[in-house]
Amino acid sequence: MEVIICDDAGSAGLLAARLVAEVVRDKPGAVLGLATGSTPLGLYQALIEMHRREALDFSRVTTFNLDEYVGLPVEHPASYHSFIRINFLDHVNVPPERIHIPDGLADDIPAACRRYEAEIAAAGGIDVQILGIGADGHIGFNEPSSSLASRTRIKTLTEETRGDNARFFDGAVGVPSHVITIGIGTIMDARMCLLLAFGEGKAEAVVKAMEGPVTSMVPASALQFHPNAKAIVDGAAANRLQLASYYRWTYEHKPSWQRHE
Ligand code: F6R
Repeated sequence: MEVIICDDAGSAGLLAARLVAEVVRDKPGAVLGLATGSTPLGLYQALIEMHRREALDFSRVTTFNLDEYVGLPVEHPASYHSFIRINFLDHVNVPPERIHIPDGLADDIPAACRRYEAEIAAAGGIDVQILGIGADGHIGFNEPSSSLASRTRIKTLTEETRGDNARFFDGAVGVPSHVITIGIGTIMDARMCLLLAFGEGKAEAVVKAMEGPVTSMVPASALQFHPNAKAIVDGAAANRLQLASYYRWTYEHKPSWQRHE
């Protein structure tokens, strides 16, 4: 996995946006896998700016969100339907019929999960999968012990993740305990994975995922087997990496075209 250590979350988000924009410019019908949560906000903001100022065109792009809470109305402000619209999709020109988000209100959840996988396949697979990482090492909502071959399915959140996400909910509605998430196998099928991580709170998950053994106890460690995965992190998230100075030196000495400047 390529590890890129940026000065701060702002420059990391911008670099990630440039990588996504390159994919969209090369392939206007690209399929993007979208994450929610705090981490990709700068990336989405930068893509919105590129859409406004540089006419970055999303009119043929298809999107698939990673996950959604089960049983939460889509209009709830903490639903990932709301989140991705407010923070990204309402500001660019992805056609509504090309936007896909797991249906956490489906009567038949296993059928909805099978349909989601079929829709990803029918779209030609995901070109670039944007990922955050949980403090427990999850990607999507694949919590520790998830099968590294898993596909889209219902999962139960850990208490740690529910605690971490409580900041998005007010007191009236607690964090749901169940979610639909695309699987680790689904993520591994993406042609490129971009994992972002910022802040000291992610440092332990980052070192385990990048430099530890591949294990279902750290779901993000599966990305070590991915042929085209990049981790873009800030200094605080990188501060436990054994090879941090090697990653920094390597990136600084790349030709500019490889640095996506
Ligand atoms: C969100 C998702 C999660 C988050 C992770 C980090 O769609 O799938 O894996 O990326 O929980 O969340 P933040 O970015 O809020 O720290």
